[in-house]
Amino acid sequence: MANPLHAPILAPSLLASDHARLADGAGLVERLRIPWLHLDIMDGHFVPNLSFGPETLASLRRDGVKLFFDTHLMLERPDLYIEAFARAGADRLSIHIEPAYDVIGTLTRIREMGKHAGIVLNPGTPAVAIEALLSQVDLVLVMTVQPGFGGQAFRRDQLAKIAEIRDLRDQRNLTFRIEVDGGIDLANAAQCRAAGADAFVVGTSFFKAADPAAFAAGIAAL
Ligand code: DX5
Ligand code: ZN
Repeated sequence: MANPLHAPILAPSLLASDHARLADGAGLVERLRIPWLHLDIMDGHFVPNLSFGPETLASLRRDGVKLFFDTHLMLERPDLYIEAFARAGADRLSIHIEPAYDVIGTLTRIREMGKHAGIVLNPGTPAVAIEALLSQVDLVLVMTVQPGFGGQAFRRDQLAKIAEIRDLRDQRNLTFRIEVDGGIDLANAAQCRAAGADAFVVGTSFFKAADPAAFAAGIAAL
């Protein structure tokens, strides 16, 4: 069995929906009874693109969106923004290991605020970089593209890292989820699942699918 711990879960990335109608994108996810919504926050420094900020999450909450907000902070200084995103309605705050800031202190603060804490690795960052923090997170996000843009090609060279993180988790009897993000479709999601991933961020292949319900069923069947 690929992963006895967690059933596969889809996290549609709102970045790939129509930004003039973000509530409609979230509404589609709710109608399909998918519990998670992935929110990609970009600062134009850590990644060469801009997306949306806390006010977007707060507006979706005011509009009645009840989904679990799986929030991916692609920020040079995530520590300066976690309070704002927590107040705005984020449920999980996932922060990158690469920039220079107090990562452990920030993960601690996220958990003190009652939020789920995730750690994220870019494709060039080895698993060893997060080994010391594995007991402090409930999710490890392995980027399967260089972050910044939707619609990029999946990087197969990340599969070995997924398996390495799965093995570290199992050796230590930890229970965090392993999420993949970038270029995911049903074919490579199956490869990620076999390597140990159990949460699948999908932008383009979900929102641009002819039949998003069929895509969601495909992930659930992995
Ligand atoms: C990339 C973002 C991803 C992106 C995934 O920087 O973190 O979440 O939206 O989109 P697709 O599935 O189109 O690669
Ligand atoms: Zn993301």
